[in-house]
Amino acid sequence: MRTKVDIIDQIDGTCYCDAIIHEKDDEYYCRHDYVSSSIREACQDMVLSDEQLKVIRERLLRSINEGLSKETHASATVKCFITYVQDLPSGKERGKFLALDLGGTNFRILLITLGENHFDMKSKIYAIPQSIMTGSGVELFDHIAECLLNFIKDQGVYKQQLPLGFTFSFPCQQLGLTKGLLSQWTKGFNCSGVVGQDVVKLLKEALQRRGDSTVDLCAILNDTTGTLMSCAWKNPNTRIGIIVGTGCNACYIEKVENVELFDGDFSKPYVIINTEWGNFGADGSLDDILTEYDREIDRNSLNPGKQIFEKIISGMYMGEIVRLMLVKFTKQKLLFNGQVSEQLNTKGSFLTKYVSDIENDEKDNFTKCREVFHELGLSHASDQDCMNVRYICEIVSRRAAHLVSAGAATLINKMDFNSVTIGVDGSVYRFHPNFHDLMVGKITQMVKSNVKFDIMLSEDGSGRGAALVAAVASCSV
Ligand code: BGC
Repeated sequence: MRTKVDIIDQIDGTCYCDAIIHEKDDEYYCRHDYVSSSIREACQDMVLSDEQLKVIRERLLRSINEGLSKETHASATVKCFITYVQDLPSGKERGKFLALDLGGTNFRILLITLGENHFDMKSKIYAIPQSIMTGSGVELFDHIAECLLNFIKDQGVYKQQLPLGFTFSFPCQQLGLTKGLLSQWTKGFNCSGVVGQDVVKLLKEALQRRGDSTVDLCAILNDTTGTLMSCAWKNPNTRIGIIVGTGCNACYIEKVENVELFDGDFSKPYVIINTEWGNFGADGSLDDILTEYDREIDRNSLNPGKQIFEKIISGMYMGEIVRLMLVKFTKQKLLFNGQVSEQLNTKGSFLTKYVSDIENDEKDNFTKCREVFHELGLSHASDQDCMNVRYICEIVSRRAAHLVSAGAATLINKMDFNSVTIGVDGSVYRFHPNFHDLMVGKITQMVKSNVKFDIMLSEDGSGRGAALVAAVASCSV
């Protein structure tokens, strides 16, 4: 006889499956009972046990400590960059600010007004064409400068010399609040002539080329820092900022005495550290959990061998992982009657958004799943295929949520607070129906028993966070 508990044990110990389809004489069946056993077996290497997650936490902690230590920083994979942000917002910040947000597929410019009990934001989104993402650095910064000047003219603030916070969401070795050397490109960007350079300087030069001297570029920050700051503005208990979007990364508050390379203000006890945990695993320390799909993604990426943790979690890769699994299983005749469509065979065709869409279907219908299949030329799919594909999506997104949770728990356990709010942003976290709950469940299992935590959705960390960093940096405000 199968009880509810058996079902809960069945997937990987945390089946959130609320979809008990059949309940009779105390026997329960959930959706997962109807997934083909061959598919379940084929997905096993995507399931991380609690023991494996524990080992991952230990290795991540070691990598973080290597990043913080003077002796090992240069060779560390998790760099733990100093952000020079040492003050959290007080909630009393006031004024008008500009923010630039570069880091995903779009680039945004924002005009932000922080007032007493209110916050106003005007923004414009600009596409970054593929040719610019992989062109020259000069072209990239010229494009940004041009958009910025047009924006401030349109908004009628051209003459106001507003302070600007630049959210630049790539790994940067910061040498102060206004100096950041790009250490490597990630997430599909690969502009020449920028690695090793100060991106603030490159932007200032591009503005000068256009004859502008009105922008007061007063802080460069990572999107994780923006997320932490923007949540801390509302909730001073925020100590961690996490992004699970196109890329994946986290920052946290560290005691300055633990940061051996710290050269900021020692009179303040803490500094935000941008871990750049996305690069965790670049030394092989995740090799034992990588699947054949992960390896293929890495091989075909712009940065093979780098950003391994990011590649097994983030939105830039999640859909493609699912696609590779679907293609393989179809060729093995486990799906779609063995018929692979041309679309499914095309790299990048299975968008990460589809994972959320498919998992968003009501428990006993496949409306969104069928829409996705239609897009992909898979209208011949059976209900069994829908059931199986939904399971595959769940396995992949669940692994991502568990890995982020392992990262978050590592930071919580490393810090010495008994209550921690985690600010989180990014499209995967925002749009996936269960990501938040999966994280809460897993982190609860992994943190020290005396620590309380909660997870808060960040409201536009890259925009408001940039304004807040500019504000607390108290440049010419
Ligand atoms: C970058 C990080 C960034 C993250 C989320 C990663 O690829 O290296 O700096 O925070 O993406 O946007």
